[in-house]
Amino acid sequence: MSDLIIRIGGEGGEGIISAGDMIAQAATRSGLNVLTFKTFPAEIRGGYAMYQVRFSKDHIMSEGSGSNIFCAFNKEALDKNRADLRPGTVLIYDYPDGDIEEEVKIDGVTCYPLPMSRIAKKDLEMYRAKNMVALGALSYMFDIALEELKDLLREKFGKKGEQVVATNLKAVDAGITYMKEHHKKTDPFKMGSAGKMAKDVIIISGNEAAGLGAVLGGCRFFSAYPITPATEIANYMSQWLPKLDGTLVQAEDEIASLANVLGASYAGARAMTSTSGPGLSLMQELIGLASMAELPVVIVDVQRGGPSTGLPTKHEQSDLFMACHGGHGDAPRIVVSPENVADIIKLTAEAFNLAEEYQMPVLVLSDGSLGFRTESITRPDPKSFKHVTRARYTGGEGFKRYELTKSGISAMSQPGDDVAGSYIATGLEHNELSNPNFTPENRVKMCDKRFAKLDTLLAKYPDPELQGDGNADVGVISFGSTMGVSREAVKLAREQGLKVKALHPRLIWPMQTKQLKAFAATCKTILVPECNAQGQLAELMRGATGINPVSYRLYDGLPFSPQQLLAKIKEVM
Ligand code: COA
Repeated sequence: MSDLIIRIGGEGGEGIISAGDMIAQAATRSGLNVLTFKTFPAEIRGGYAMYQVRFSKDHIMSEGSGSNIFCAFNKEALDKNRADLRPGTVLIYDYPDGDIEEEVKIDGVTCYPLPMSRIAKKDLEMYRAKNMVALGALSYMFDIALEELKDLLREKFGKKGEQVVATNLKAVDAGITYMKEHHKKTDPFKMGSAGKMAKDVIIISGNEAAGLGAVLGGCRFFSAYPITPATEIANYMSQWLPKLDGTLVQAEDEIASLANVLGASYAGARAMTSTSGPGLSLMQELIGLASMAELPVVIVDVQRGGPSTGLPTKHEQSDLFMACHGGHGDAPRIVVSPENVADIIKLTAEAFNLAEEYQMPVLVLSDGSLGFRTESITRPDPKSFKHVTRARYTGGEGFKRYELTKSGISAMSQPGDDVAGSYIATGLEHNELSNPNFTPENRVKMCDKRFAKLDTLLAKYPDPELQGDGNADVGVISFGSTMGVSREAVKLAREQGLKVKALHPRLIWPMQTKQLKAFAATCKTILVPECNAQGQLAELMRGATGINPVSYRLYDGLPFSPQQLLAKIKEVM
């Protein structure tokens, strides 16, 4: 099977995430490409948790559509996934003596009952090991590298003691034995192997990738306040920054974290914070200060369902308005948005160069699907990351920190410089010498200077990637992880002979108006799929380009699937 999706669903606290992680790791170690998706409740225990692993010998673009194999730990999970149990799929479920009280029979679906609760509770006397009974069964039925799984189990539970490891290993064997003795395999699914994992492949989450991108981009100061789903970025930075002589400050809140970052940047460091929607709201005033004082800072926003505490563990793309336009006053900033895990590394590193070059806040808009997912990717080569540094005052006559230039960019000095430059960074409107100045003439010149930097950027930034060619009936434009789904849906549409193409912009703000208009001129209809209720990208595009796209909105806490988007493309056609 060249492309397979295994999904496990159950209750938060039952070890769904651990079991899914192990399958993902085993698949990677078997040389396959992997992309995972997980969704779980905000509670520590209870509620529906799901982990999905998609693996393939080919490049994987998105979470995919539904699953081929579903493993249900309880009735709630089974009920939530019934619609995806289409003919040709496989169900393994906890029966008998579990939460599911009746034998399941669904037309065309291969159903394998497995009493995972009973085996764990009664035979092994450790209910926690239920997930490993399921893992053993999955490994036997679908040829998932058993020795790799056992190694991963030892690595994962080793710190919990020998007894825990031994019982879990027995649980894996018990799952295998049960399937051997009770079921004859009648489905075609098999993970198999694509040989050994290549030496230059790593498996890494989107959040870890943001940390890695930051480190490779030269970040040496990081300050944040923990918030789901962005906390893993801070965890990653806490492991790496000390080894690189960097500094990490866990702040008392998000306002303080960005204030710390502004201070570090003012002193010359490449500095970053990470957060999610509620934290980004709190940072708005300081984003304005960074924009006014022209300080380079990077902010990674892993979007989640809002407003307020909203859906803290769920996927959404609803911070776009705030990222591009949030705050008071006219405050230019740059917003970039990555498609997948490799892209997060690249764009986060690039965000430091943009911040340094244009001396303004740069926001990297990740999202719940991207942040939590893991992907197998080629290990990035640190040498390929070049650092652009801020324009610096090197001496000479009459230093003007906010000198009016055609590009809008002026040289900075910083505390400790031995040249005689003032190093004022001010939130008050100022003149070229950074002295407060509120005359109408100066105000307009300075505001225009700050915005001129966006024009300078637009003239240099690479064109968005084009998928497909010629004239099309439908052209798809999206951002963030929805780009991966669009890419797959457009590929499927084109394979069916439909005239469809896509544009995949990384730079979301300022908008690449010229390129978007040129693309739209070759399409009868522009379709903008995005995971928010207001159609934020479509709305920004209307304002900036005059294009009037069909807005396709999803705001149920889940990402689009390629099949869902393909159906919409056909409907629009
Ligand atoms: N044997 C022993 N221990 C096991 C085990 C096994 N067979 N299987 C799992 N475990 C342990 C795991 O190691 C983990 O322990 P750890 O925390 O010490 O690492 C624990 O059981 C939970 O298992 P895990 O697989 O990681 O998660 P899960 O699928 O049971 O789901 C979550 C739990 C993730 C849903 C939940 O804990 C969580 O984090 N919820 C979100 C909280 C949040 O962010 N809220 C938002 C606040 S705004």
